[in-house]
Amino acid sequence: MWRKLYAWLEDRLGLEEIYKATLDRPEPKGNWWNTLGSASLFLFLLQGVTGIFLTVYYTPSPDHAYDSIQYIMNDVAFGWLIRGIHHWGSTLMVIVVFVHMVRVFVTASYKYPRELTWIFGVGLLLLTLGMGFTGYLLPWNQRSYWATEVGTRIAGSVPLIGDSILRVLRGGPDLSALTLQRFFSGHIWIIPALLAAVIGVHLYLVMRHGESHFPDKDD
Ligand code: HEM
Repeated sequence: MWRKLYAWLEDRLGLEEIYKATLDRPEPKGNWWNTLGSASLFLFLLQGVTGIFLTVYYTPSPDHAYDSIQYIMNDVAFGWLIRGIHHWGSTLMVIVVFVHMVRVFVTASYKYPRELTWIFGVGLLLLTLGMGFTGYLLPWNQRSYWATEVGTRIAGSVPLIGDSILRVLRGGPDLSALTLQRFFSGHIWIIPALLAAVIGVHLYLVMRHGESHFPDKDD
C-alpha cells in the first residue's frame, strides 16, 4: 500500500527529482567541522518552534511582559522547559554560528567560487546577533531593560545618523512600551523572515558549489 501511495505522490510531485537536485551530491570526506552549518540550521529551527510556543503565553506590554514570563515558568505545563531551551538555544546558536564562520575562515572556504556564500553568511551572523539583541529585552526585567538602554545608546553613538538609529530602535527618545512592541515585532517577524530568506540563498549557494574539503597531503 505504501509503495502505491509513494508511486502516486512521486508521479505528481517528482520527489526523486527534488531529492537528486538538493541532497544527492558527493560530499567531501566526513569531518565534524563540516557539520556546524547544519547545526546552525537545526538551532534556527529549534528556536523557531520553541519561540512559537512561547508566544502562546507571552504578552509584549510593559504591564504584563514580566508576569507572563513568570506564568510560563511556574504555571504552564513544561513552560520552564520550553523557555529554558529557547534561552540556552539562543546562546548556543550564537556560539555555533560563530564557530562555523571561524572554520570557514580557517579552511579558506570563502575563496572563489564561495565569496557570495561568505557574504550572505556575514548577513546571517548579524541577523543572529539581532535576534539575541531584540529577544533580550522581552522579559522586561531590570537586567534586560538596562542592557537595552545601554545597547540602544551605543547604536545611538554612530556619527551623524546615531540619533535617528536610536529613535527608530526605541520608537522615541526613551525606552517605552513602543520599544518593547518594536523589539517583539522584530524578534518574531522581521528578523526571522530575513533569516529564513538569507538561509535559503546561503543553502542554495552551498548546493550549487558543493562543499569544500579540508586540504590534505595531496593538495
Ligand atoms: C544561521 C546561520 C548559518 C547557517 C544556518 C548556515 C548554514 C550552512 C550550511 C548547512 C553549510 C554547509 C555545511 C557546512 O559547511 O557546515 C554552510 C556552509 C558555508 N557557510 Fe554557513 N551558515 C550560517 C552562517 C554562516 C556564516 C556566519 C558564515 C560566514 C560569515 C558562513 C559561511 C559559509 C560558507 C563560506 C560555507 C561554504 C563552506 C564550504 O564549502 O566548505 N555561514 N552554511
